[in-house]
Amino acid sequence: MEAMPALEVRQVSKTYQERGKPGVKAVDNVSFSVAQNEVVGLLGPNGAGKTTIIKCILGLMRPDSGEISVFGQDVQPNYPRILQKMSAVLEGSRNLYWRLTVWENVRFFSGLNGISSKESHDYFEYLIRLFSLEDKQDVEVRKLSQGMKQKTSVVCALARRTPLLFLDEPTLGLDVETSLELRHILNQLATEEERTIVVSSHDMDVIQDICQRVIILSGGQVIVNDQVSHLMRLFGTRAYRISLVGSLPQGLGETLTSHFSSVSVTTNDTGVDIIINLSEPEDIYLLMDILRSFGAIIDEISHEDVDLEKVFLEVVRRGRNGHASGYSV
Ligand SMILES: Nc1ncnc2c1ncn2[C@@H]1O[C@H](COP(=O)(O)OP(=O)(O)OP(=O)(O)O)[C@@H](O)[C@H]1O
Ligand SMILES: [Mg+2]
Repeated sequence: MEAMPALEVRQVSKTYQERGKPGVKAVDNVSFSVAQNEVVGLLGPNGAGKTTIIKCILGLMRPDSGEISVFGQDVQPNYPRILQKMSAVLEGSRNLYWRLTVWENVRFFSGLNGISSKESHDYFEYLIRLFSLEDKQDVEVRKLSQGMKQKTSVVCALARRTPLLFLDEPTLGLDVETSLELRHILNQLATEEERTIVVSSHDMDVIQDICQRVIILSGGQVIVNDQVSHLMRLFGTRAYRISLVGSLPQGLGETLTSHFSSVSVTTNDTGVDIIINLSEPEDIYLLMDILRSFGAIIDEISHEDVDLEKVFLEVVRRGRNGHASGYSV
C-alpha cells in the first residue's frame, strides 16, 4: 500500500466575488498531492492563484468546490484541530505580534501546538541561533528590520514543529547571505526532521536549490506538475544555440518565429546567434530545413544551458499561448 500523502488537493476551485462585478476565478479545478517528507515548489506568475490555494489548504478560506485533506483528514470538518498538523508563513502579512519580543512570539506560536517552552527551550534556542537572531531575541518585533521580521516568522512557523509547512515567498526581503542560509536550513529540515514543505517563490534559484518537484500554476490552473530534474532534462535537450556566419538572411527571423514559439536572435561581431526552444525533439529537422532553404551558413550548434528560470518562463509562455499542458513529454 502506498504511504498516505501529506497533502491532497482534489478539484479545488475558488472565485472571489465582488458586488456588481464578475468574480475572479483565482483557482480553477486544481488537483495535486504532496508525499510525506517531500519539498515541493508552488510556482506561477503574479495572480496565478498560489496564495489563494495555500489559504484554502490552511482553512483560512473556504473553496467553492473540491476537497483538501492533510495526512488523510479532510480540512473543513476537522477544523481547527487540523492546524496542529500544519503551519505557514504567509506572504507580506503580519505573521507575528509586533509588540511581543522574538522569544515571546516563538513561545506563543509554539504554545498553540501545545509545545511548552520548558521542554523545547533548547530547540527554540537552536532555531534562533540558526537564523542569527540571538542578539535580538528579547527585542520587540516592531523594532526589527524587515529581513529580521521575516526570519522571526519562519522561526515561529518552525517552532510549532508541524509535519507540514507552507512558506509563501520566504526569502522576500532577505539579503543574499540570509537567503542562502535559509535555503540551507530548509534543506536540513527536510532531510533531518522529515518535514513536508510547500514553498512558493519567484526566486527560481531558491526553488531549484530546495525542491524536488514543482507545481506551476497559471491562470488558476496547474500547467506543470513534475520533478525538477525531469523538467531540466526535458528542456535541456530542446534548447539550442545556433551560430551563423555573417548577417541574418532576409526573412529568416520571421520564418523562424512563424514556425517556432520561442526564438531569439542576437547579432554579434562575427555573425548571428539564434536561441530556440523546440516544442518537440523532431522539430530540429524542420529547423535545419528552414536554415538550409535560406542559405544560412552554420558555424556552430550547441545546447543552450537551461535553468529552472528559463524552464518556468517557457512553460508559462506556452501555457498562455493555449497549449493546455504547457509542455509535452
Ligand atoms: N481578497 C481578494 N479579493 C478579490 N480578488 C482577490 C483577492 N485575493 C486575490 N485575488 C485575486 O485572485 C487571483 C489570484 O491571486 P493570488 O494572490 O492567489 O495569486 P498569487 O499566485 O499568490 O500571486 P503573487 O505571485 O502575486 O503572490 C488574482 O487575480 C487576484 O487579483
Ligand atoms: Mg501570492
